[in-house]
Amino acid sequence: MLTIKKDLFIIETANTTYAMRLTDHDDIQHLYYGKKLKKEDIKALIPKRELLLVNSLYMAGDVSYGIDDMSFEYSFAHRGDSRPSACILRDGDSEVFDFQFDKIIQHVKLDKMTAASHDSDIDFTIQMKCPDKDIVLRLNFAVFYDSDVITRWVEVVNNSDKNLSIEKLMSNQLDLKGGKYNLITFDGAWARERYKTTKSIQYGTYNAGSLTGMSSPECNPFFIVAKNNCDNMSGECYAFNLVYSGSHKICVHRDTFEGIRIMNGIQDEGFSYTLPPCQSFVSPESVMTYSCKGMNGASLNMHEFVQKNIAAQRQIPVMLNTWEAMYFDMSEDKIKEIVDKAADMGFETVVIDDGWFGERNDDTTSLGDWFVNKDKFPQGIKGIGDYCRKKGISLGIWFEPEMISVSSKLYSSHPDWALKNNDIRDITGRGQYILDMTKKEVRDYLYDAMSFVIEEGNIGYVKWDFNRRFAEIRGKSGGEYLHNYILGLYELLKRLNDNFPQLVIEGCASGGGRFDLGILCFCPFIWTSDNTNPLSRAYIQEGTSYGYPLSAMLNHVSASPNHQTKRLCDISTRSAVAMQGVFGCQEDITKLDAKEEESIVNAIKEYKSLRKYLSFAKIYRLGDGFDENDFVWQIMYNDSEGRLLIYRKRFLPDYINPVIRFYNLDRDALYQIEGAGCKSFRVHGSTLEDYGFVMPQNYMGNNTSDDTTMLLDDTAVVYKLTKINN
Ligand code: DGJ
Repeated sequence: MLTIKKDLFIIETANTTYAMRLTDHDDIQHLYYGKKLKKEDIKALIPKRELLLVNSLYMAGDVSYGIDDMSFEYSFAHRGDSRPSACILRDGDSEVFDFQFDKIIQHVKLDKMTAASHDSDIDFTIQMKCPDKDIVLRLNFAVFYDSDVITRWVEVVNNSDKNLSIEKLMSNQLDLKGGKYNLITFDGAWARERYKTTKSIQYGTYNAGSLTGMSSPECNPFFIVAKNNCDNMSGECYAFNLVYSGSHKICVHRDTFEGIRIMNGIQDEGFSYTLPPCQSFVSPESVMTYSCKGMNGASLNMHEFVQKNIAAQRQIPVMLNTWEAMYFDMSEDKIKEIVDKAADMGFETVVIDDGWFGERNDDTTSLGDWFVNKDKFPQGIKGIGDYCRKKGISLGIWFEPEMISVSSKLYSSHPDWALKNNDIRDITGRGQYILDMTKKEVRDYLYDAMSFVIEEGNIGYVKWDFNRRFAEIRGKSGGEYLHNYILGLYELLKRLNDNFPQLVIEGCASGGGRFDLGILCFCPFIWTSDNTNPLSRAYIQEGTSYGYPLSAMLNHVSASPNHQTKRLCDISTRSAVAMQGVFGCQEDITKLDAKEEESIVNAIKEYKSLRKYLSFAKIYRLGDGFDENDFVWQIMYNDSEGRLLIYRKRFLPDYINPVIRFYNLDRDALYQIEGAGCKSFRVHGSTLEDYGFVMPQNYMGNNTSDDTTMLLDDTAVVYKLTKINN
């Protein structure tokens, strides 16, 4: 809710207050973001000062108006603020833009970059203008009351008669005062995406993000700024994300007056966007939340926001993917064998991965030639589609639409569509090139080629892959090109979603290289990582869970030894970890042993019974604070049904299991806990939160009985939690 009280602008969500003030000099000062305050107290937060920092700049004529340590809602270069600024513009004459408050605009539908189905409780704009230039800057806000989320984005309108160059335009700026904070980012590489890294915020500027043209496995756009005593269960933190799939930036600056400036938005390195007269530029949307209930609280808010407002809502199938079962060595007969077995086991969708098209027998050819390989599929896509339908299986298929192989028919006819310059040294990745998605004819070609296959094979599911990053770009400015590329990508995704309303599109970029809110606007879930080993996945899925809900994470049971890590792992642990999200399998199901088959069939049954809740399921991390050797996840499918998963990295002999405290239960209700060697018992939510759950005795290193819990190396156990209606 927005309250305007004279010069105060106050946003309230269910549990938070965000307060701003219009200063006497027409700047917008940031006053507060945090736990809900009484509105009438907000004026008491206005800093009182008569004396200036000795060396500081101030507004001429007003020594009480120091620029260096004032918290601003948005900052501009060359206006006396020595911290990194959010916005740099250039109009040919100068880079000095003196934006001042113009008006508040309410009750209008604001432009957003993505076509997400955002349903905010309130949208409003703080409009700023420059007295000497016809340029307008809009600070846009959307408020999601119940989720305690506020989103912010910025729009620049060029009303002048000359080009305006946008050199930097952060979507969000939050200036905080006081206290010691940690910055928590989610970093990694291929097959080790989104590992949590924590660093204390010291004086100076910390820049992170991506320069790759994609949101990247190196640094996810989601991050947290937490008070240094905050953990998952308690303490204060702020969490941020960006609805964007391209290069992005996270900037955190600590000044010497104990202020922290936090910004995120489009990566500005190499960014320069020429805005012609009478046009406007809209930045991606930044998402932020505050929690005083630890990082689990921030995750809960983010999950709810994503589930209600971002993630494309589609039926979630139980899928079998062919990649690790056959790689490029596929045939119609083998796929039919898999389809038969998949139908018997309870799978609903079989996804034919890479290798079905063109001359694709390895990863060096054919990208762009989206027609079926008749040597492998003599009856074409229609033949296999019909076969699947008869077996009650929906057919899914892999595309890497944004790519082109030099060895392809598409390249022979359209070499100019590839981001490749034959006059300079060639930079490639996986031997392939990116298609120029800024070109309408490229998008039209892809739409036609893909929709032909989708219609012919009666395809219900598309896996959308993206396996290399950018080197070359077109045009004068990398930033402008990369941004327009992302808009082209979104347009094609939207067109497919609009015209095939039943189609489920899985987001994938060499695993989780584009695990972001932009992709989630069009894809209900994303392939979390190519690494399917449960131990690696426990790190990856836990890291991902800080910013993204279970319903966004696609996990597969795969073979042991694992193809990426060569680790061995028992099938019950492989199934248990894959179950914590959208469940699938990419093992060769025609070669399973009886134990594996039984475990996967049971997982499918359980998953089907819980799937209807998955879109709103929550995950809390309970493991920090007591033992770094365990991952502990509390998964709540709804208010009354949950699971507790404990994953032990390394077995410790002669060791007493920790007591596990639950999070966010109904404190007065009775809960029943059972499973994994634990005889069913009942206890109140308050006890589970305040004292905790005493895990049964684990194997100690010598004697066992049939009842002994065997939590050994790389093993997960799962307990069932049920709220009892008294
Ligand atoms: C990368 C994906 O992440 C894999 O799952 C698989 O689809 C391969 N690409 C296929 O080339």
